[in-house]
Amino acid sequence: MNDGFVRAAGEIAREAGQFLKHFSDHHRLAVEHKGNDFDFVTNADRESQRLIAERLKAAFPDHRFVGEEDGLDDAAVADILSGDEYCWVCDPLDGTVNYIHHLGLYAVSVGLVRRGRAVAGAIYLPEWDELFTAQRGCGALLNGRPVKPSSCDDLRHAFVTADMAAANVEMRGVNMDRIKRVIMAAGGLRIEGSACVCIAQTACGRQDAYWNLGLHAWDVAAGAVILEEAGCAVSTVFGDPFTFDMKDGFLCAAPGLKGAFAGLMRP
Ligand code: IPD
Ligand code: CA
Ligand code: CA
Repeated sequence: MNDGFVRAAGEIAREAGQFLKHFSDHHRLAVEHKGNDFDFVTNADRESQRLIAERLKAAFPDHRFVGEEDGLDDAAVADILSGDEYCWVCDPLDGTVNYIHHLGLYAVSVGLVRRGRAVAGAIYLPEWDELFTAQRGCGALLNGRPVKPSSCDDLRHAFVTADMAAANVEMRGVNMDRIKRVIMAAGGLRIEGSACVCIAQTACGRQDAYWNLGLHAWDVAAGAVILEEAGCAVSTVFGDPFTFDMKDGFLCAAPGLKGAFAGLMRP
């Protein structure tokens, strides 16, 4: 595959991330509600998406583009992603609530999908200047160096992150039992508020597993190829093959933990 894809993903994710990091030097952050009282969007999310879309459309005029702020639902996005065309799927600011609260756990995600499979992608963590990239068949890199998952294969030692899918109140309740089970079985649990940060940390072995029941394609398009190329297990929360319809959530783990962890996730 053309390695210009992953290079562009990395450069554009970094540019958007640096833009977000310095946004408040030039703009006042305006926070709005999106779907409900718990779902937020800011002018920084929108401006970041505008920048990413502009750059990608200039570089790859024949490719499609889907960004979170386009407001498409999961079924519509899955339908686009199953097609023959290359489609860029981007989250211009993952961890908006953390960003609003000046917490550094946020990221930019730029992924490229074709025929339902992520083929290249980049996740950039602006506060740490960490760029995770991967191209199908070529491994996963952190600032240009290969990464791999942890060797943890014992739940009792697993350092795990989760998310409440905070914008979806019904989902908070559904997740509660799983959170209790993981707290009792695993070495440690954190809820960090950015899917892309958690995915990137799992890919490079700083943490051992992550799950979320309420993600969308833009949260995981880059992450899926980065995780798989690093050597992590990627699946639905039940351990079934992952697809972009996002119906049964998202789970990633060090390969030695996948079976035990998916077992904990069953209702
Ligand atoms: C959200 C974050 C959060 C996760 C949500 C995502 P956003 O993305 O990744 O950690 O729990 O499910 O939607 O809205 O900040 O881009
Ligand atoms: Ca997101
Ligand atoms: Ca977002």
